[in-house]
Amino acid sequence: MDRLHINGGVCLEGEIRIAGAKNSALPVLAAGLLTREPLKVCNMPHLIDITTMLQLLGCMGVQRVVDEKMNVQIDSSTIENLSAPYELVRTMRASILVLGPLLTRHGEAEVALPGGCAIGSRPVNQHITALEAMGASIAVENGYIRARVDGRLKGAHVFMDLVTVTGTENIMMAATLAEGRTIIENAAREPEVVDLADCLNQMGADIKGQGTDTIVINGVRELHGCSYPVMPDRIETGTYLIAAAATRGHVKVKDTRPHTLESVLSKLEQSGASLLVGEDWIELDMRGRRPRAVSLRTAPYPAFPTDMQAQFTALNAVAAGTGSITETVFENRFMHVHEMNRMGANIRVEGNTVFVEGVDRLNGAPVMATDLRASASLIIAGLVSKNETTVDRIYHIDRGYECIEEKLQSLGARISRVPLR
Ligand code: EPU
Repeated sequence: MDRLHINGGVCLEGEIRIAGAKNSALPVLAAGLLTREPLKVCNMPHLIDITTMLQLLGCMGVQRVVDEKMNVQIDSSTIENLSAPYELVRTMRASILVLGPLLTRHGEAEVALPGGCAIGSRPVNQHITALEAMGASIAVENGYIRARVDGRLKGAHVFMDLVTVTGTENIMMAATLAEGRTIIENAAREPEVVDLADCLNQMGADIKGQGTDTIVINGVRELHGCSYPVMPDRIETGTYLIAAAATRGHVKVKDTRPHTLESVLSKLEQSGASLLVGEDWIELDMRGRRPRAVSLRTAPYPAFPTDMQAQFTALNAVAAGTGSITETVFENRFMHVHEMNRMGANIRVEGNTVFVEGVDRLNGAPVMATDLRASASLIIAGLVSKNETTVDRIYHIDRGYECIEEKLQSLGARISRVPLR
């Protein structure tokens, strides 16, 4: 297990390129199960979660070819096993995304039931109820979801009780090959859902309304292959911008999609950052000033993303004033707070809100990452600390941030990875 060493106190300065979005690449890879023809997925981020998804497809007998540019070609004409085993599902919950495609194309699927994780209980009941409404028989037994359907799934009017990103994606994929029309109400509006719908439409699906809370899918007989570049990662983009603001720096992020980050950019402006925005780039300049504390509340898109609240907690920890951060999507996403307090932060948790009173500077300490976005927030905290911070359990960060230490080094940060035996 590797560890990161950070010597804080440097204002980040320079330019970086943003990678393809993890949360778009994962469902798009699963969409490769919907056709016998090859699907080429481009702009793939180099991440552990992507490797896990490719491993999962591999153990089903799907052929994967990765070229020198990290484009991945999926060929599921060779599939022989319709099961996602617990050993892989427990390392990556997004494995649930194979359920809808397998069931709709092959009439059966078996996927280990994902358990809770560090950020919450995260049930998948909405995925199951919606597939049942489409005619599937589903049994949850011995830790597995076993789904079957005689013939094709049937289009249905599905009302999601709550907004779920992978739930919407699973049902949308299942509906592409169902008989008739499916309407998903209270659908997730996240840009990654839109990206998946755009890919499916290029594969011959008939999907409308993506990006709104009502998605209409007219089932087709079959889908075909295509070549599809996944969208840039908005969470990686926001993380580097927050790191730049917290360190009072000046950073330009390139190859991104600014319009997917409106709620985040508005909070960065409130914190005192000057922003310049182009078609595919964002430049943030703090001009050496201390950020001002901001308050925010997470909620589904287009509101402020839960995947970015931990990073703003790190910014608030060294900002002028007091900010409150309320988490409404997951029930246990404040594990980073206790580690930041060990670094001298002044953060109090009350229910699903944290109150952060900014201090002048944090003090480096050994800290432990508990999940992906918490890891990113601890790295930002390390960048604004005196002395050395070591971040342990960084396998979490490698799940979702490509080459994070190289990118931060190129912005001037003193950060290095130390392999542990
Ligand atoms: N929920 C249910 N029942 C369901 C589905 C969801 O109660 O059947 C609840 C969850 O427990 C949670 C809320 O609904 O409280 C929203 O969960 P959602 O299903 O939207 O989350 P997800 O699809 O499992 C995706 C991202 C997460 C991101 C969330 C919220 C992927 C692969 N993962 O998860 O990303 O935090 O949406 O935006 O797209 C990350 O990248 O670090 C990450 C955790």
